[in-house]
Amino acid sequence: MTKSLSSTPVTVGPSTNPSPPQVRELHDGHREAVLRHLVALGPEDRHLRFGSPTSDIVIERYVANLDFSRDAVFGVFNGALNLIGIAHLAYLPAKRGALRTAEFGVSVLLGERHRGLGAALLKRAAMHARNTQITTLFVHCLANNKAMMNLAQKLGMRVEFAYGDADAYLILPPANVQSILNEATQEQMADLDYAVKANLKQSKQIWRWFFGMPNRS
Ligand SMILES: CC(C)(COP(=O)(O)OP(=O)(O)OC[C@H]1O[C@@H](n2cnc3c(N)ncnc32)[C@H](O)[C@@H]1OP(=O)(O)O)[C@@H](O)C(=O)NCCC(=O)NCCS
Repeated sequence: MTKSLSSTPVTVGPSTNPSPPQVRELHDGHREAVLRHLVALGPEDRHLRFGSPTSDIVIERYVANLDFSRDAVFGVFNGALNLIGIAHLAYLPAKRGALRTAEFGVSVLLGERHRGLGAALLKRAAMHARNTQITTLFVHCLANNKAMMNLAQKLGMRVEFAYGDADAYLILPPANVQSILNEATQEQMADLDYAVKANLKQSKQIWRWFFGMPNRS
């Protein structure tokens, strides 16, 4: 069954987690951080993320070619301001008369999984896609990728299997005032979250310097 994503704010995650993951839209200045995140993925995760075994060189090329003005890239930062989760919303070329489609790809660092980051990134990307006139959100992945399939189905995507691969689709409703306001609010909350983390990181560094302790990134 195909369901459309509701415009409720992102509040995914176990109830024990007091604060939901804050998803921020990334820009060209985050290219280096995106690269650090992706090369930190192990061989199996790279295979699942990109659909084939992926070397550092291929990842470097992928990151160098990311077009932040055409596509949208989202991230979740930890307290040290490292990117622990990333999603890439790639806008597929629009064909005359055809539905406008965007492809979603996601990765969360191994130690940060099962805390709702993947779901938060998918919801955030779906909201952005909806607000930028995309009608179909699409995820292509290997059929043995249980995590991604469960995540997609949990968020109402229709999953089709063929020849060892799986495609998940989500039909998005048209944007409205509420969906645009929701996205703006979430972006502001994510900016605030980032600013708080940046301040905390800086004060920790000052205290470490004060006590003559080595600095940590
Ligand atoms: C897929 C991935 C992004 C999920 O990230 P995550 O932050 O752990 O996901 P969430 O915590 O939001 O989980 C949401 C739901 O996904 C499903 N899920 C997540 N990990 C799962 C796993 N290992 N096995 C089965 N289902 C899983 C569950 O239904 C989960 O809901 P629940 O926690 O209420 O049970 C992560 O496993 C990953 O980075 N994998 C490697 C890259 C990849 O496969 N990318 C997808 C292809 S583009």
